Amino acid sequence: MESDFQPFSARLEEGAAPLISLRGVAKKYRIGETVVAALDHVDLDVSGGEFVVVLGPSGCGKTTLLNVIGGLDSPSEGTVVVAGVDVSAAPAKKLAGYRRRTVSFVFQSFNLFPGLTATENVQFAADVAERSNPRQVALEALKAVGLEDRAAHFPQQLSGGEQQRVAIARALASGNPVLLADEPTGELDFATGIQILSLLKDQADQGTTVFVVTHNREIARIADRVIELSGGHVVGIHRPEDPLAPDDLRW
Ligand SMILES: Nc1ncnc2c1ncn2[C@@H]1O[C@H](COP(=O)(O)OP(=O)(O)O)[C@@H](O)[C@H]1O
Ligand SMILES: [Mg+2]
Repeated sequence: MESDFQPFSARLEEGAAPLISLRGVAKKYRIGETVVAALDHVDLDVSGGEFVVVLGPSGCGKTTLLNVIGGLDSPSEGTVVVAGVDVSAAPAKKLAGYRRRTVSFVFQSFNLFPGLTATENVQFAADVAERSNPRQVALEALKAVGLEDRAAHFPQQLSGGEQQRVAIARALASGNPVLLADEPTGELDFATGIQILSLLKDQADQGTTVFVVTHNREIARIADRVIELSGGHVVGIHRPEDPLAPDDLRW
């Protein structure tokens, strides 16, 4: 089927050097005779320390976008360059180093190790990123998400919201410059959700480039920029019209 889609240019103003740069990115899946374009024609530039909200309905390609930026998935077409690394063409060893030292993920389904405690799960990320004093880093990250009293719990002893906060602590503990969070407030009650968004916003204020994926339009109001996806295409990119601080959010 011919698409009448016009590629949307999500480029920064001339002169700004982007930390993350996508050009002509597509991710296509073939299932039998059908080809699904999870992403198509995506051009995007994001600078260091930006707090970006990726907004769109279920199935529009949000997770796929994070996966190609994070080097978990390679695009079928186009280039993804992050901090000077061509993630779309990097050999395996370079890509592994990139995933260890440049990006951290908060997965939609947490992906905690069931046999490790909260502290051990978080410390694992600090170890992988080769941070000094990884245990201390882990305990501080757990404290930042309000879970210092759950440090010795295993994931199955934690509620969904608590597991999500451990996953967020794990991303913080890596200390990596790019943080990719997939629906990080999906399992959280409102008050905890605000706390986590404030924390992620603080990370961006301290220089981390943060992507938050959501289908919640209210959350987009705290973004530096909002990237709207629909059917695998970037259909809009803008600064919020009514910006809000995380503490003032209501949904
Ligand atoms: N591994 C896969 N194989 C086939 N189709 C996939 C795969 N991963 C994602 N898709 C399809 O790509 C589209 C975008 O998926 P996804 O990025 O997970 O969307 P979102 O995170 O916005 O809900 C969906 O239609 C989904 O069914
Ligand atoms: Mg998703």
